[in-house]
Amino acid sequence: MSLIDAARDVRENAHVPYSKFKVGAALTAGSGTVYVGCNVENVAYPEGTCAEAGAIAAMVAGGDTTITEIAVIADSPKPVSPCGGCRQKIAEFAAGDVKVTLATLDGLVQETTVAALLPGSFDADYMSRV
Ligand code: THU
Repeated sequence: MSLIDAARDVRENAHVPYSKFKVGAALTAGSGTVYVGCNVENVAYPEGTCAEAGAIAAMVAGGDTTITEIAVIADSPKPVSPCGGCRQKIAEFAAGDVKVTLATLDGLVQETTVAALLPGSFDADYMSRV
């Protein structure tokens, strides 16, 4: 199954009573295992979590710490764009050249990279004098 298909499938499980906007994410980890996540909203709105965050949490819980590819899908007019927080979360575990596929339910696909989504990102090098 392709990463987009895995993301499309898990999207169906999204808990979105407030926004009604279902998002699915799937990533391949360094071990080759595919991890998936969907957005999980909460009546206390800021406590909601994005699909990408769910997939990353599943990956870390599964014992993986490297993302080698990631895909995100939603029912949007253009390929869904990860929020700023999720870009930083992805960058924690992915090299800059890692492929990120953004997709819509009706077949629009945009391929980009972690570095293109988060240029000039803060990383551990900045703390090398500590
Ligand atoms: N959302 C994601 O899960 N991932 C994205 O890349 C964009 C936004 C979710 C958060 C919230 O549950 C809903 O979409 C509307 O913002």
